[in-house]
Amino acid sequence: MHFPQYRARRLRQHPALRRLVQETTLVPQDFILPLFVVPGQGQRRPIATLPGHEHLSPDQAAEEARMAADLGLLAVLLFGLPAHKDPLGQEAYSEQGVVQQAIRAIKRAVPELVVITDVCLCEYTDHGHCGVVENGRVVNDLTLELLSKTALSHVEAGADMVAPSDMMDGRVGAIRQALDAKGYVDVPIMAYAAKYASSFYGPFREAADSAPQFGDRRAYQMDPPNAREALREVRLDIAEGADIVMVKPALPYLDVLYRVRQLTDLPLAAYNVSGEFAMIKAAAQRGWLNEEQAMLEALLGIKRAGADMIITYFAKEAARLLAK
Ligand code: PBG
Repeated sequence: MHFPQYRARRLRQHPALRRLVQETTLVPQDFILPLFVVPGQGQRRPIATLPGHEHLSPDQAAEEARMAADLGLLAVLLFGLPAHKDPLGQEAYSEQGVVQQAIRAIKRAVPELVVITDVCLCEYTDHGHCGVVENGRVVNDLTLELLSKTALSHVEAGADMVAPSDMMDGRVGAIRQALDAKGYVDVPIMAYAAKYASSFYGPFREAADSAPQFGDRRAYQMDPPNAREALREVRLDIAEGADIVMVKPALPYLDVLYRVRQLTDLPLAAYNVSGEFAMIKAAAQRGWLNEEQAMLEALLGIKRAGADMIITYFAKEAARLLAK
């Protein structure tokens, strides 16, 4: 079909017609809302680097979860800022840890909401790395034990799903084994399968107080130039028992997302990370972008590339807009 027999503009002539031929649709159920939990009671402190987000004590996290569910969101993803950090990140796997408390509070208040927990040590270690450090290096296999303990403690507190984000080799298998050994055979794992060493985590590291105190994460997170390697990472996590795989960040890695979509029929998550959120927020604050339109266009792009679900700091705003 060629012009003038075919005119692509015919199907763009009015809004309802455009919607009729729309190939990708966003709904509130697509979004997972990250929450940052801090110790205490009645605490709600704005996070400077994530406008519209707050540090929440467990009781407030439960209220926030209620609000999220009322907006049509199906899931939240929990991060914790402990009272104390130490070399082994012990509060990550303490029964009285902030995340464990928040899980219990949220499941009590909003049992229908899926509670996912980020499993990593960087917020809990004094050196800010995602595992055990020896001689300036993160030791892989020793870290697996602590990650497994962390995941298990989340599940014992009532978490519906665990999401390891540390990028140690073998952690999905180790966590699967640890959960199964305690009878939690039905608790799924969402693996941060292809997670890159990205500068777009900057605002998050301020929010989670998890910046490495020396060096960087390039010896465990993926190197940005590599896409085939992402497929290897995804295959490994699937072989180890991942139930959902993730690509992170999202926008600078849409090609990776698309390739992973072709590789597997497992559910696929994308993490629209803090720096991607910050770019749109900051530009909108200056009047350089229409925030609502830019946000929805970015989220749509991530879904069009193949994501089944999107972890995003825009979750509430987007859900609100889409409900209109
Ligand atoms: C923990 C973790 C990070 C993010 C999610 N989990 C930071 C990092 O790897 O340094 C980043 C999320 C974001 O930027 O929104 N390992």
